Amino acid sequence: MSTIENFNNYLQEKLDERKSNGLIRTLTYKGDKIDFSSNDYFGFSKSVQYDISEETSFGGTGSRSITGNNPEAEEAEKTVADFHKQEAALIFNSGYMANVGLFSSIASKGDMFISDEYIHASIIDGMRLSHANRIKFKHNNLDDLEKKLQQIEGRKLVAIESIYSMDGDEAPLIAIAALCKKFDALLIVDEAHATGMYGNKGDGLVCKYNLEKDVFAVVYTFGKAIGLHGAAVTGSRVLRNYLINNARSFIFTTALPPTTYLQIKRAYQLLPTADRKELEELIIYFRTEIKKLDGISFLESYSPIQGIIIADNFKAKGLAEYLFTKGFFIRAILSPTVPVGKERLRVCLHSFNTKQQIDMLLLEIKTFLG
Ligand SMILES: Cc1ncc(COP(=O)(O)O)c(C=O)c1O
Repeated sequence: MSTIENFNNYLQEKLDERKSNGLIRTLTYKGDKIDFSSNDYFGFSKSVQYDISEETSFGGTGSRSITGNNPEAEEAEKTVADFHKQEAALIFNSGYMANVGLFSSIASKGDMFISDEYIHASIIDGMRLSHANRIKFKHNNLDDLEKKLQQIEGRKLVAIESIYSMDGDEAPLIAIAALCKKFDALLIVDEAHATGMYGNKGDGLVCKYNLEKDVFAVVYTFGKAIGLHGAAVTGSRVLRNYLINNARSFIFTTALPPTTYLQIKRAYQLLPTADRKELEELIIYFRTEIKKLDGISFLESYSPIQGIIIADNFKAKGLAEYLFTKGFFIRAILSPTVPVGKERLRVCLHSFNTKQQIDMLLLEIKTFLG
């Protein structure tokens, strides 16, 4: 057997192991199924018309530091910074790259990251790549965060999401910002799932609670309610310049094409008109209806992300597959992505879903769970 064949066999064994644990990931098409899964909360990915002239380039052509910079990129960054009431913004190619670039570059040996235990993988990866130490605090637990802040000497950086991607619940942002102030810690907030959804015109929870001056950096992603891809790190001009010089996921990659920067700017112009009210009503409807079903456990979330706890990887996967055959696109979230016993169906609601679709979905879930 050749070395390559040997190694492929080894990889296949690893895959088989995942499969036998119910953890195998496969790629599927959503097709014409009813979307209860994407993060395209307002359908912007399909509905927003962008005004792109024929002269606009469809390629990034180089990194931002070489040939990839252009007026479109800088205008999009100014739009994003102004919209979120921050001094400056720097656009990365995705939220993953923004978090990896930010967290890996801003801290070094001797510094300490303190992150919520449910923090997104992109932030974990960014922290790992830095030379700083890191500890977790219990999810949304102010007492635990305070205890950790008290114990640590030296520079402290606290990382949270404003709306958690798997549980859909909200961080106690005002109280966390106050604790950070009390203990001289720097607060970094990932607003991936709040961008476009919360605050005045969709500017997010940091703006809603007037915390712009209390946070060191905020990450806004464009792959969710904005309906595109890419993300911005916002904060001071110094932070922007620092990231241009140090964030490797910004420096060593081809820039987004000018067409994308134009699209981002256009989507931000349209955000104030997004159907937030319709979506809020659907969230209330979903929660009212699911409460009527006996024996179904679901998470305390008032965001578009609603988790139905199944507490078993195979059963959660089975339910998602069953729903697919009934015309719904919806994904199971398995352990270890979520804690053991918290395996779930992650329902994402959109302004374009209907009450009738929710009724049909809940009926099928009830049928499957018995
Ligand atoms: C909280 C959070 N941060 C960052 C990201 C990464 O964003 P992107 O999909 O743009 O890479 C995600 C997406 O899953 C997320 O949920």
